[in-house]
Amino acid sequence: MTEKEEQILHQTEQFVQEKLTGEASGHDWWHIGRVRNLAKRIATEEGADSFVCQLTALLHDIADEKIAGTEEAGLAQVQAWLDEQEVEHSVQETVLHIIKHMSYKGGTQLDVQLTLEGQVVQDADRLDAIGAIGIARTMAFSGNKGRLIHDPNLTVRENMTLEEYRSGKDTAILHFYEKLLKLKELMNTETAKKLAAERHVFLENYLEQFYAEWEGKR
Ligand code: ADP
Ligand code: NI
Repeated sequence: MTEKEEQILHQTEQFVQEKLTGEASGHDWWHIGRVRNLAKRIATEEGADSFVCQLTALLHDIADEKIAGTEEAGLAQVQAWLDEQEVEHSVQETVLHIIKHMSYKGGTQLDVQLTLEGQVVQDADRLDAIGAIGIARTMAFSGNKGRLIHDPNLTVRENMTLEEYRSGKDTAILHFYEKLLKLKELMNTETAKKLAAERHVFLENYLEQFYAEWEGKR
């Protein structure tokens, strides 16, 4: 990586850190930091462009509707930032394309083909949604929305529209079935598949213990 690229990453880190201060929906700065570190690691193992992966990881949640208001407004902010940093136009386009298409959104955009760098960042973001960290984020997100941990009367929703996925009738435990347990199969890279397999087992063990405790059996 060139010195200029190192510098852009450093500036971007500061920019994102400032923007996400106080964010409580699971997209706080530490999520970004973890995704960036995972993306860096996966990029190295998969031979992807580390600068593009890290830059995109740092910016990936700035355009989230939950943070920017609308996706368009968020993407415009990202583009303005990249321009200001004098990032090459082709790299800007790469970064914006990934950010626009990597999000899970209830499984409603599974058909968009991502570049290797896009696959790496998407894997890193998805890994942070499973395992011990993923469980903590799910509980935090759910609590932030005022939802229950678990309600045995609710059943898992299949084939949701984006509106249904975002709408209120949900619990933290239901989210395991609606998203977390599906992510292992959606990993792009071999490196992420290995990491996801371990984190997935952790989710399954957690649920088993959870239900046992729920019934007062353990
Ligand atoms: P998405 O693209 O699915 O909205 P995000 O990355 O915005 O995912 O979600 C942020 C965090 O909040 C993730 O850890 C995710 O699993 C969690 N989360 C998203 N939706 C829910 C939900 N309905 N219930 C509990 N946790 C959720
Ligand atoms: Ni994210």
